[in-house]
Amino acid sequence: MARSAQTYELTCPVVFVGFMGAGKSTLSRRLARTFGLSAVDTDLYFANEANMSAGDYIREYGEDAFRTQETAVLKRVLAMEPALISCGGGIVVTAENRELLRDRFVVYLQITADEARSRISNLNSRPLFGDEQAARDLLAGREALYEEVATVTVDTSGKTLRQVCRLVEQELKERGVLCPQ
Ligand code: S3P
Repeated sequence: MARSAQTYELTCPVVFVGFMGAGKSTLSRRLARTFGLSAVDTDLYFANEANMSAGDYIREYGEDAFRTQETAVLKRVLAMEPALISCGGGIVVTAENRELLRDRFVVYLQITADEARSRISNLNSRPLFGDEQAARDLLAGREALYEEVATVTVDTSGKTLRQVCRLVEQELKERGVLCPQ
């Protein structure tokens, strides 16, 4: 999408959730570029602070230790000036995080585990993805949690990044979250 000549602002933070490979961070960065907004990614924020990627941290210290750090990161990014916030795919597994996301503007980017797999080039960076069946089971166990926090659900299956961008843009504008300055 071309950069907009008009400047825009967010009236509240916009949080992207969804399974690994759903395109949360790519979409958030693309929208940020198009509308001149800030984008922040919980995994990158974590990696900057820990000097280690989320995947490496999980491998070294385990998932529970990562989840504790992830909650601290989520609290900090939600307290910032409104931004586009892409979250790690497992953000919803922690009850405290779901509570933090209640009454926030949350976009759930839906994807099937099989399509997610085809979009992920480097599985090494996602130690929790597992094999095909494990990924399907993991997603099946999380679907209700994504839905629980979602304000808007966008099905990304079979759609290009551009198409998903347009759908999200439309939702944000219609709901008065993305406004001309
Ligand atoms: C995870 C997803 C990853 C990252 C970590 C755990 C998960 O983020 O936070 O590896 O549990 O689904 P992406 O969704 O950006 O891959």
